[in-house]
Amino acid sequence: MIHARIAGTGSYLPGAPVTNDDLVARGIETSDEWIATRTGIRARHFAADGENASDLAEVASRRAIEAAGVDANDIDLIIVATSTPDYIFPSTAALLQSRLGIRNDGAAFDVQAVCSGFAYALSVAEKFIRSGSHRRALVVGAEVFSRILDWNDRGTCVLFGDGAGAIVLEASDQPGVLATALHADGSHHPILCVPGTVSSGKVLGDPFLRMDGQAVFKFAVRVLGDVAAEVLNAANLSIDQVDWLIPHQANIRIIQSTAKRVGLPLEKVIATVGAHGNTSAASIPLALDVAIRDGRIVRGQTLVLEGVGGGFTWGAALIAY
Ligand code: ACO
Repeated sequence: MIHARIAGTGSYLPGAPVTNDDLVARGIETSDEWIATRTGIRARHFAADGENASDLAEVASRRAIEAAGVDANDIDLIIVATSTPDYIFPSTAALLQSRLGIRNDGAAFDVQAVCSGFAYALSVAEKFIRSGSHRRALVVGAEVFSRILDWNDRGTCVLFGDGAGAIVLEASDQPGVLATALHADGSHHPILCVPGTVSSGKVLGDPFLRMDGQAVFKFAVRVLGDVAAEVLNAANLSIDQVDWLIPHQANIRIIQSTAKRVGLPLEKVIATVGAHGNTSAASIPLALDVAIRDGRIVRGQTLVLEGVGGGFTWGAALIAY
């Protein structure tokens, strides 16, 4: 039986941290106290002008490829999860393939599931590998959400940051991804969206992120709890057998409520939202890479990765690391 196993991880945060006080200094009517108490966020990173999702993805990917100890040209599948691609087309994944110098006619495409994007991309890659059609995938979450923030909307612009995270997922005879689950309920699209587009050279509608924060909060906690239980049931494991929960990093209060709902102590939850803000599809692989590099996550442990985001979409992966 072919399994899909994480061979290496990498991540990248652009520029210097931008603190809550820095946002105040930039003229946003907010405070460190307001942001930190409601969200746990103390800082985030923003890409420089002209620095795009593919730039961030490239650095994170090179680090993941190095950690995996593989040759980039042995990667035959690239999936980039992003809602802030460089272009309308080609995909950020195709641009990334070129930037990495990969010339093997492998597949490359983007997935768009907003903050669940990495969970979606990982699940798709796992199925390609388990089917035997592909051997080694680069799965990336890369976002420049700073480009879609309305700096006059203090209720949203303080929450997000830019970044990228990547994993190399490869065929193995050892168990890796044990179970995945993906869901969507498009009827909730108005509570988190960027309801605009480009047509005939003009922006139509609203090109900025809009959110009903309280509705998002309630929805997120419910589905993150449910989908963690779903992947555990699918693999016949109990929550006590999980070493680490790596949830989407939207808000520390969502993370705390989710941990309580799934019955896991906070000591077993990776939280990077304080230093990264919400980096949407990049948040899970960023948190995973941070905790692998600082030695908290080690080989042999059992992980639950889970995301929720616009659509609404949500998903999880149970992983033997
Ligand atoms: N600084 C200071 N005051 C602010 C700010 C700010 N940045 N933003 C809003 N306020 C004010 C409002 O104007 C309002 O003032 P008023 O009472 O005088 O009218 C007051 O604070 C309360 O505003 P609410 O929007 O009701 O604030 P709430 O307590 O709901 O907190 C928050 C907002 C933090 C966004 C909360 O709803 C939340 O955590 N929601 C979860 C959403 C989330 O994390 N989304 C991330 C993206 S979704 C995802 O990734 C899944």
